[in-house]
Amino acid sequence: MERVIKIEGGHRLNGTVRISGSKNATVALIPACVLANKPVTMYGIPNISDVRSLIILLNELGVEVIEKGDETLYIDPSHMKNIPMTSNAVSKLRASYYFMGALLGKFGHVEIKMPGGCYLGPRPIDLHLKGFEALGATVSYENGCCILDAKELIGTKIFLDISSVGATINIMMAAVYAKGKTVIENAAREPEIIDIATLLNNMGAKIHGMGTSTITIHGVDSLGGCIHEIIPDRIEAATYVIIAAAMADEMTIENVIPQHLDAILSKLKQIGIDLEVESDKVHVKGSTKPLKPTDILTKPYPGFATDVQQPFTALLTRCEGQSSVKETIYTERFKHCAELNKMGADINVRVPACFISGKTDLHGARVKATDLRCGAGLVVAGLMADGITEIHDAYHIDRGYDNLDGKLQQLGAKLWREEVE
Ligand code: EPU
Repeated sequence: MERVIKIEGGHRLNGTVRISGSKNATVALIPACVLANKPVTMYGIPNISDVRSLIILLNELGVEVIEKGDETLYIDPSHMKNIPMTSNAVSKLRASYYFMGALLGKFGHVEIKMPGGCYLGPRPIDLHLKGFEALGATVSYENGCCILDAKELIGTKIFLDISSVGATINIMMAAVYAKGKTVIENAAREPEIIDIATLLNNMGAKIHGMGTSTITIHGVDSLGGCIHEIIPDRIEAATYVIIAAAMADEMTIENVIPQHLDAILSKLKQIGIDLEVESDKVHVKGSTKPLKPTDILTKPYPGFATDVQQPFTALLTRCEGQSSVKETIYTERFKHCAELNKMGADINVRVPACFISGKTDLHGARVKATDLRCGAGLVVAGLMADGITEIHDAYHIDRGYDNLDGKLQQLGAKLWREEVE
């Protein structure tokens, strides 16, 4: 038996949806808390399964975690133990690798299983490890674990061959206690990096330049506690704006930082979607008029996010003519296309791009969420489709979308979970 998501498509949506705290910030902020010597309180924690996996890992490390209300976590690492991280929870998500930087920074030693997460093609972590080595750590492997060891970490200049989000954050965390100055060149500029650096600075770290491609970290001796409010999830926000573009008469997406959505909102306007942007909201006026095709190129921030191309591709099936999506981050990230084709889409994948011929009318089908954002694409498609869509492996979606069912139902969608053979 499996619990699937079922969507009866074709219902128009209306109303307001509130965006939760950023998943990709939260999954780094939680491990970052172990760098403190005092309690940290975080507001805006999304209710997603990746967070639950991280709480299990914190508990295993002897960190006290108290869930205060729906969205608040109190994390007290003052009595934690640096034990090997070998439990199953490590391989449930990609972001468990943030414990590498955090524990190496705090204790000079980490033993951890390799991370899991969505399969998007090869996802090496060589840049993280090269960064740790440059700071003075040794890297070895034993019984499926990666072991990082350093007598002391010493600040240095690290040039990232690729501006990797994960490597930038991991190196930043390892460097907060390093002696002297660390400079990360070609650093990633994603808003989540600013959020992690802000948390660390509020604990007492000295990080400058986050949000630019040069980040400087002056090592400190001790980090205290703090209170932190997580930024809104720009990928969840983009997904709901796309859902609104596809199916809403009028919809407001609130608790967003519109600047984080510039590339996506600009593409939506290009295809003919009527949008109004306020300081923390986006209003979408839906219409059934023909949409124009477009070409998308995924890029690091502030470019078009790779995590949004899948829901956007579902919407592009409604455009009259041929659209394309070219991936420059994960060149094989097109598993959603075969699933969308089962629903009547006409998408031709020629890695690293896919070509969407439209307009096609989608119909309900039995499909599989091969990864988190593929799942988001299938939800958008299911809402648009005629008939009932059955999404298998829905657990991928629950890794990253807080209260998806409740939020969509409140907007008027017909969506439910069902046990099927
Ligand atoms: N890369 C390397 N070596 C490394 C690290 C990265 O070659 O050591 C390559 C990757 O293979 C990829 C590119 O560099 O081609 C960029 O990867 P990056 O490290 O920036 O990605 P990440 O940190 O593993 C985060 C998000 C992803 C998001 C990417 C790109 C988290 C937990 N994950 O991954 O989010 O797609 O940045 O923006 O923050 C998602 O939310 O669905 C998701 C997959």
